[in-house]
Amino acid sequence: MSTSVPGDYVIRSIRADEWPAVKELRLRALRDPLAHLAYLETYDDAVVRPDSYWQERAKGGAEGGDGRARQFVAEGPGGLWLGTLTVLVEEAGTTDWAGFPVERSQGHVVGVFVRPEWRGSGLTKALFAAGLEWAWESGLERVRLIVHPDNGRAQGAYRKAGFVPSGRTVPLAGGGPGDHELEFVLER
Ligand SMILES: CC(C)(COP(=O)(O)OP(=O)(O)OC[C@H]1O[C@@H](n2cnc3c(N)ncnc32)[C@H](O)[C@@H]1OP(=O)(O)O)[C@@H](O)C(=O)NCCC(=O)NCCS
Repeated sequence: MSTSVPGDYVIRSIRADEWPAVKELRLRALRDPLAHLAYLETYDDAVVRPDSYWQERAKGGAEGGDGRARQFVAEGPGGLWLGTLTVLVEEAGTTDWAGFPVERSQGHVVGVFVRPEWRGSGLTKALFAAGLEWAWESGLERVRLIVHPDNGRAQGAYRKAGFVPSGRTVPLAGGGPGDHELEFVLER
C-alpha cells in the first residue's frame, strides 16, 4: 500500500530489503532525548545487534510478509525516512508480552518515531491513518498502544489520531513499584 499525502512525503509499507534504513531510523529513534520513556530497548543494546536481526525485523514488517506485523514509513525527498510506526497483530486467546490475556483480535502500535524537524506537521497522523487502515483491512477489532504517563506529546498525538485511554495500566518492565504505562485504544 502506498498513499500520497500533502507535505512532500509518501506513506507506505516497508520492503524486506530495506533493512539498512529500518536500522538507521530505529537507532536514530533510540537517540531521542525521550527514548527512555518511549522505547523498551536502549541504543546500546540495539547498536550491537547483527545484520541478521535487522534483516529479520524488516522481513517481519514488510509488505508480503506473514501478516503478523506491518511497518509503515513516511518517505521524504531523496528517499529519507522521516518517521515510522509498526502495527503488531495480537490474536484473541493469546497472551501478550506483559503476560495478560488478549481477549479480542487487535493491533498493537509500537516503535512510533518522527524526526524532530517533521513533528507537528501532520505526518504522525498520516502514519496512523495508514496503520489503522491496514489494521481494519486485516480484520482487527481494535488497536491499542502503550504510552508512558510522562510522555505528554506522544499522548497528544495519539489522542489526535483518535485513541483514548482505556483505563488499563501496564507495569513497566524493570520499573519499581507503582511504575506503570497507560494503554490507549481505538475501537474499530
Ligand atoms: C510521539 C511523536 C511521534 C508525536 O508526533 P508529533 O508530530 O510530535 O505529534 P503532533 O505534534 O502531531 O501532536 C502532539 C500534540 O500533543 C500536544 N502536546 C505537546 N506536548 C504536550 C504535552 N506535554 N502534554 C500534552 N500535549 C502535548 C501538541 O501540542 C500536539 O497537539 P496540537 O497539534 O493540537 O497542538 C513524536 O513527537 C516523536 O517521535 N517523539 C519521540 C519518540 C516518542 O516519544 N515516541 C512515542 C513512543 S510511545
